Amino acid sequence: MPAPLLATRAITKDYPGVRALDRVDFDLREGEVHVLFGENGAGKSTLISMLSGANRPTSGHIEFKGTVAELNSVHHARELGISAVFQEFSLVPQLTVEQNLFLGAEHRGGLFLKASGMRREAKQLLDDLDFHIDPKAQVYRLSRAEQQMVEIAKAFRSELSVLILDEPTASLTDHEADQLFRLIEDLTGRGVGIIYITHRIAEIERIADRITVLRDGRYVTTIEASDADEDRLVELMTGREVGAIFPSLPTMDPGEEILRLEDLWTQDETLCGVNMSIRRGEIVGCAGLVGSGKSEALQAAFGALPFSSGTVIYKGERVAQPKPGRSIRSGFMYLPADRHDAGLMLERPARENFSVAALDLPPFRNGLFLSGRGERQRAAELATALNLSPNQPERTLDHFSGGNQQKVMLGRSLTRPVDLAVFDEPTVGVDMGTRQAIYAFIANLAQKGAAVVIVSSDLPEILHLTHRAYIFYRGRIQAELAGSDLTEEAALANFFEQDAA
Ligand SMILES: Nc1ncnc2c1ncn2[C@@H]1O[C@H](COP(=O)(O)OP(=O)(O)OP(=O)(O)O)[C@@H](O)[C@H]1O
Ligand SMILES: [Mg+2]
Repeated sequence: MPAPLLATRAITKDYPGVRALDRVDFDLREGEVHVLFGENGAGKSTLISMLSGANRPTSGHIEFKGTVAELNSVHHARELGISAVFQEFSLVPQLTVEQNLFLGAEHRGGLFLKASGMRREAKQLLDDLDFHIDPKAQVYRLSRAEQQMVEIAKAFRSELSVLILDEPTASLTDHEADQLFRLIEDLTGRGVGIIYITHRIAEIERIADRITVLRDGRYVTTIEASDADEDRLVELMTGREVGAIFPSLPTMDPGEEILRLEDLWTQDETLCGVNMSIRRGEIVGCAGLVGSGKSEALQAAFGALPFSSGTVIYKGERVAQPKPGRSIRSGFMYLPADRHDAGLMLERPARENFSVAALDLPPFRNGLFLSGRGERQRAAELATALNLSPNQPERTLDHFSGGNQQKVMLGRSLTRPVDLAVFDEPTVGVDMGTRQAIYAFIANLAQKGAAVVIVSSDLPEILHLTHRAYIFYRGRIQAELAGSDLTEEAALANFFEQDAA
């Protein structure tokens, strides 16, 4: 057996109060895609932070091509050919794409930056990767998917032996994800080893060669992808058998209409004449490709996106200009897909992040006084309901893993009574056990009489969790499917242009 490309030997990482990794052995071969799998907080990101030089182990060591390697910094690891794209990006928003690409490795000719050479190379790099991004564009103007492409392009600046990707498709469209998978095939064909973190079984089936499972910071096992199926992976990940992911759909006894949209348009025609009606007790899906308007219709109704004409009627009253603050106070919650836009306070405890949307209500307010006890109690309940890991609501948010930050954001919407809750991609980045908890939670919300809308690019979520779904195409609702008509074929067919015939 040749030496593995990259390996960890009994690697351990302690953070104050948590052992994030406990004597983990892991190895990566040339030309393979090796998936790291495990629950939120299992230690996946921590492991790759050490393999990429971002973090130092407490004990144990790393071997690169058969010799012990001290990776002192991300820059040092990159020079050796080990490059990572993290869950949190490292781009400087105010700089251009090309400046970001060569940050820390600027081409210097004497004392002068060779701008023209840099520009040529940036263009070449992006072309080679088939990324359609303007090298002169400022990064803050790019979509999250485009920013991720820039992050990936950065990894290609120097000779590459190991590419590490932490949940890379979380913010990509299907088309962009396909592009990424082709790129990965191309790289493994050239002998590059890839470490790939994902919670999505479909991706594992598509690209993985081997899978290593972590649980509570410990190595569980490594299996061949051909031996893996969903049940086995879930069992390895949680250490127990997990029942059906989806709850049985609550029986629906549709109540009064909560929200009605009539002929809604936006200036830029992201929405071109949307009509919807949502009633109490039902769970309604919004599906369609990215850019189809599936997220925007509810954003407009909530007040997060201006519309140019049309009518929004909430609880029987016309709302001329919806505003997020007023929507929230009147029981209309919208949870955005991107937790980075949701104003999470990273340096504050999870507890405060939970309660911030509800500080004017009991149990947070007790007469004139803020109720510390009520707040703590509610935070503890939410943390348990959402499997927060570690279950420590006093921990500051930046000390939680990515998926656990996502849970806190979800919990935030649940601290006040809701009449209408809109969840936009509620399960991106969360593990399957938690997904189950979130689904049960959503079903319960509807059962108790709230109206629920789920905007999702995960079709099974729409098929199994909603009573009725709107399928969007280019700013219009192309189909409304319910009951036995709500099938995968019918939904997918309507993701694309339909003939009028
Ligand atoms: N900077 C930090 N300070 C303190 N504790 C941390 C820090 N980063 C991570 N941890 C803790 O280490 C453990 C492992 O976290 P890690 O981010 O590696 O999980 P993960 O497997 O990547 O999860 P996810 O799927 O949610 O991204 C968690 O208990 C987390 O709370
Ligand atoms: Mg992580």
